[in-house]
Amino acid sequence: MGSTKNGFSLFVLVGVVFISMMVANVAGDFFQDFDLTWGGNRPKIFNGGQLLSLSLDRVSGSGFQSKKEYLFGRIDMQLKLVAGNSAGTVTAYYLSSQGPTHDEIDFEFLGNLTGDPYILHTNVFTQGKGNREQQFYLWFDPTRNFHTYSIIWKPQHIIFLVDNIPIRVFKNAESIGVPFPKSQPMRLYSSLWNADDWATRGGLVKTDWSKAPFTAYYRNFKVTPSSTASNSFSDSTFQINELDAYGRRRLRWVQKYFMIYNYCNDLKRFPTGVPPECRP
Ligand SMILES: *[C@@H]1O[C@H](CO)[C@@H](O)[C@H](O)[C@H]1NC(C)=O
Repeated sequence: MGSTKNGFSLFVLVGVVFISMMVANVAGDFFQDFDLTWGGNRPKIFNGGQLLSLSLDRVSGSGFQSKKEYLFGRIDMQLKLVAGNSAGTVTAYYLSSQGPTHDEIDFEFLGNLTGDPYILHTNVFTQGKGNREQQFYLWFDPTRNFHTYSIIWKPQHIIFLVDNIPIRVFKNAESIGVPFPKSQPMRLYSSLWNADDWATRGGLVKTDWSKAPFTAYYRNFKVTPSSTASNSFSDSTFQINELDAYGRRRLRWVQKYFMIYNYCNDLKRFPTGVPPECRP
């Protein structure tokens, strides 16, 4: 009796582990996971679905979106950004739901002149409202190699990571009245477009169209679903548990040496006080 039962549980356990490994580890196939949504023939999928590129020329940019919607989970993608003179170009890579009260979790890469640093711009929209920008320089040249840009989205927090290093944490602050994205499923989007009215040095440096087409590359898309059941939504002591001591140290390192803008410190912009989620 007992051994049959154990045998059966072991069988189930192995099955569950196997299935979760499949879900977590099989790199996506771009043909299967994404739709090329704009830019005519500018977006391209190659290598049997393992590599995708977007391009931008004088006529149009381009973009793609995930076929599926996600509600919580971890999204990883490797990007290799527009090389050389990318000034004026923006590569956006973000999760978003739809409608006027949509939620959004954004990475945007603002190009620059050859040798000058990209800016990684991040934002979080809840219930249609953003205005929560943080910007960073990167500690590597994002155009030389692929690097991994990830979003961990849980009911307790959103974490932005670069090569598995946490750069930003947006905590669930519903307990003090700040809406948190937790009920609208989001799709993953990416696009490459011209934003030379604001992107580089605030719009001073314009796109050099003689260098077009501009191209960015994507690979190793991965989604790791996270169980949303039985999470303690309101217990704030659990909010940062995702990061261990090492993770928290890396986060402080990035914020100290690479963060160039934080809305939470922008008293000019919020003369009557920074938003509530900024207060410790
Ligand atoms: C581009 O380079 C300039 C000069 O180093 C720098 O001030 C700026 O932050 C860089 N990035 C962007 C996107 O403008």
